[in-house]
Amino acid sequence: MIPFNVYPLQSITPVKALDCHVWDEKGNRYLDLYGGHAVISIGHSQPEYCQAIAQQASTMGFYSNSVQNPVQKAMAKKLGELSGYDDYHLFMVNSGAEAVENAIKLASFQTGKQQVISITKGFHGRTSLALGVTDNPKLSAPVNTVHDTIFIEMEDVSALEKALSTNEVAAVIIEGIQGIAGIYEPSTSFLKSIEQLCKKYDALFIADEIQSGYGRTGKFFAHQYAGVKPDLITVAKGMGNGFPIGGVLISPKIEPYFGMLGTTFGGTHLGCAAGLAVLNVLESENLMQNATEVGNFLIKELQTFEGVEVRGKGLMIGVEFNYPIKELRKLLLEEHYIFTGVASNPNTLRILPPLSLRQEQAECFIEALKSVLIKIHQDETVSIH
Ligand SMILES: Cc1ncc(COP(=O)(O)O)c(C=O)c1O
Repeated sequence: MIPFNVYPLQSITPVKALDCHVWDEKGNRYLDLYGGHAVISIGHSQPEYCQAIAQQASTMGFYSNSVQNPVQKAMAKKLGELSGYDDYHLFMVNSGAEAVENAIKLASFQTGKQQVISITKGFHGRTSLALGVTDNPKLSAPVNTVHDTIFIEMEDVSALEKALSTNEVAAVIIEGIQGIAGIYEPSTSFLKSIEQLCKKYDALFIADEIQSGYGRTGKFFAHQYAGVKPDLITVAKGMGNGFPIGGVLISPKIEPYFGMLGTTFGGTHLGCAAGLAVLNVLESENLMQNATEVGNFLIKELQTFEGVEVRGKGLMIGVEFNYPIKELRKLLLEEHYIFTGVASNPNTLRILPPLSLRQEQAECFIEALKSVLIKIHQDETVSIH
């Protein structure tokens, strides 16, 4: 049997990783500015994190959610403290799509309604409800196409109110910052309108912070820059630093009851030990502050490049060129050993490094980018189309 490869594979095969670097099987070292789709938050193979997983695995890796789980309680408490949502509850799952699936289901249970409003260009995952609110019909199989979703453009408050005013909408879902689309931020006023209008029309406000959360933008959640408080917040990716965990932060106005949600593997002892270690390191190493400082440095430097648009906050950065970045990204990888990400927008490079990225490493990237751009603009044999 061989793997069912649904991704175009990169030319390198990483076999070892530490902090912001990965090594291929020939021993070449690469600077990781992508963190495997924004997953590596505290750095690859961070020692305290590895130790916490090893210790929990050798003590008790798993028991089901039908018993008290002190590790899950400790993880939820710490997440409440660091995020500022200590009055919320945490329901744990194993991935981002599952978090979105459960958040939408909760909103529907709570309001008794079935429509959802989502934002064009957004991505929320590949399970049925998550696909239903993802603006990319190519990802849906025939079985996934029966959805009750109204897509509106980001910032279109009148479309938002018109859709909500039917009183049939259970939830409005929006990414803290749109990630896969190419790093697009909602404005503070748009997020505030969502918050107010959801209250007015008895719908729930879901912030999908799967990519933009866990300190990546310099605050725990990107929506906190706008001072809004969603009813449900989805998390995954950086939450486990590679260990597959996700979750929904749930407003105290929603009462849990048996049968409402359920999972075998969500919130295991092992997963929670990994998640707790991530939070501890995020705090002890001041990684949110680091994301702000190194991110600000990168954004400022990138803004000096001619003909590019720079978007994002902290270490969630999109750099849009006026041509496709395919060749640029290849040269960064092959000539400078720097790994970067793509977006649905083919002209946009996505920078999503571990939050432990150091200033010198950011400087290396800027120098490498300068030299690649000189090459691209001088060398007519290099195709940018
Ligand atoms: C904003 C957002 N939501 C949901 C998901 C789905 O997460 P997963 O791939 O873990 O199911 C992603 C994945 O990229 C994402 O970026």
